[in-house]
Amino acid sequence: MALHGRDLVSIRDLSREEIVQILDSARRMIPLAEGSRTAPLLAGRIVAMAFFEPSTRTRLSFESAVQRLGGSCLTIADAGASSMRKGESLYDTIRMLSSYADAIVLRHPNEGAARLAARASERPVINAGDGAGQHPTQTLLDLATIRERFGTLAGLKVVLLGDLKYGRTVHSLAYALAEFGSELVLCSPESLRLPEEHRDELHHEGAKVTDEPDLARAVRDADVLYVTRIQKERFTDESEYRAVVGSYRIDAEVLAGAKPKLIVMHPLPRAGEIAPEVDSTPHAAYFRQAFLAVPVRMALLDAILGKRRGAR
Ligand code: NCD
Repeated sequence: MALHGRDLVSIRDLSREEIVQILDSARRMIPLAEGSRTAPLLAGRIVAMAFFEPSTRTRLSFESAVQRLGGSCLTIADAGASSMRKGESLYDTIRMLSSYADAIVLRHPNEGAARLAARASERPVINAGDGAGQHPTQTLLDLATIRERFGTLAGLKVVLLGDLKYGRTVHSLAYALAEFGSELVLCSPESLRLPEEHRDELHHEGAKVTDEPDLARAVRDADVLYVTRIQKERFTDESEYRAVVGSYRIDAEVLAGAKPKLIVMHPLPRAGEIAPEVDSTPHAAYFRQAFLAVPVRMALLDAILGKRRGAR
């Protein structure tokens, strides 16, 4: 695959065809992700996990993907434990790490950090979230989840709910869904609307995008309800956060008016946006979504640094 040796900083770095290839490969990786089959596709490869912001699923699913494929990881899971604490620059840290590992997976609180790291690194850099910027590997697993349920990524009505201002997962996902021809419905508190730059880009792509601040109306004829957490850590003003916290919540009552096939997704962690009662309904797709992180990241790593190139 042409992805060999490449960085993944933004979802825009991938063509539609490349995304489909990764999703097809990910489907074949499911037995490997479950541990029912093994294949040493990354044997002898070392992948550095440079995480300078909290993470559970993203880091652990990357580590699981690498290790199940026979590779190994070098992990910085706590910014305070690395020399960045002593004032080392991101550039120097990445430059050095790229001489210890075959690829670097980076999470960082600053938007643009992954682009900078890609310039500093001699090895491929995969963006695992840069501030309020992008989270392209989350988008790949989000797309895998939607495609598994609906068999397509086109012609669906997808509600993006919550913090559309700071949420990097929606900044990546909205673009990809538009590219594949799904319709977007934006539902957020007024102060957390999708920023203009993203709206302009979506319009430029010819995407069908509407705003529907009323949750019940937004849900009514949706196929996918993508719920996000309010990104508390990105607010500069605590009162701005307090004004919106708890302003939306998905529960049985909200879903009573939904299509039977509606799926509820969430990149997780949830912080009260989805009531636990939703977990046992057929709508809940977020735990499957979290599992699919492993085969999708396997497929991506195999494409970027696997020994035998090409989707399997
Ligand atoms: C998301 C993130 O870090 O952007 N989490 C994740 O990667 N699964 C969403 C969030 O933190 O709200």
